[in-house]
Amino acid sequence: MPRHVAIIMDGNGRWAKSRGLPRAAGHERGVEALRRTVEAAGKMGIEYLTLFSFSTENWRRPAEEVNALFGLLRAYVKRDLARLKAEGVRVRIIGSRENVPEDILELIGKAERDTQDNRGGNLTIAFNYGGREEIVRAAQGLARQVAEGTLTPDEIDADKFAGALDTSVLPDPDLLIRTSGEARISNFLLWQIAYAELVILDVLWPDFNGDHLAGAIAAFQTRERRFGALADEGREDG
Ligand code: FPP
Repeated sequence: MPRHVAIIMDGNGRWAKSRGLPRAAGHERGVEALRRTVEAAGKMGIEYLTLFSFSTENWRRPAEEVNALFGLLRAYVKRDLARLKAEGVRVRIIGSRENVPEDILELIGKAERDTQDNRGGNLTIAFNYGGREEIVRAAQGLARQVAEGTLTPDEIDADKFAGALDTSVLPDPDLLIRTSGEARISNFLLWQIAYAELVILDVLWPDFNGDHLAGAIAAFQTRERRFGALADEGREDG
């Protein structure tokens, strides 16, 4: 089983368009797919699930759509937090806090605080998240420590750097799933997916369900992960 599964939930707009519905309707159905996925992942024993819900680039969308996505995050946390808490899921939100409305920051803080002692799985929502922005923020944090004299440049290695990212306490994703057939990373978890297996599925996100998740995991299980080394049969003794 992959320990950490990350998902780029793509295709809400196309799902809505194909039905003559506004894009926001696709996102609404996307939240239902998200619920199904959290539940399915829990049943399958996936320890870490990380979902891309709003990127730093999504601000370029019409204000109406941005507001709809913010509204869905609000509604999701308000409606599902008690259940996630009861089910033992630890909730984290990664991404920049900049430009995020105050009430959402409070909700995020509450979700993280209320679930911080949970040990029954980890749900991380990437919200106002961009991989490059995260890396820049991490570099700034380390540079600040160097300027303050609490860190020397030579002490900065890959582990130190990973520890300065929003995902510092999460293992790297083993499997990255993207729906809707697009084969792009779109600035998601750039540092963390160095050795993730990628599975691109042709399903649009609002149609995603536990069977699709199981299918992606089955594909993952056929992959041979080498992390830059040789395959076992290619390795020479001595
Ligand atoms: C991509 O579809 C999806 C997003 C930009 C947002 C994903 C958001 C959700 C699933 C719902 C929000 C949930 C929470 C909890 C905030 P797209 O609009 O890019 O689809 P398209 O490529 O077909 O246009």
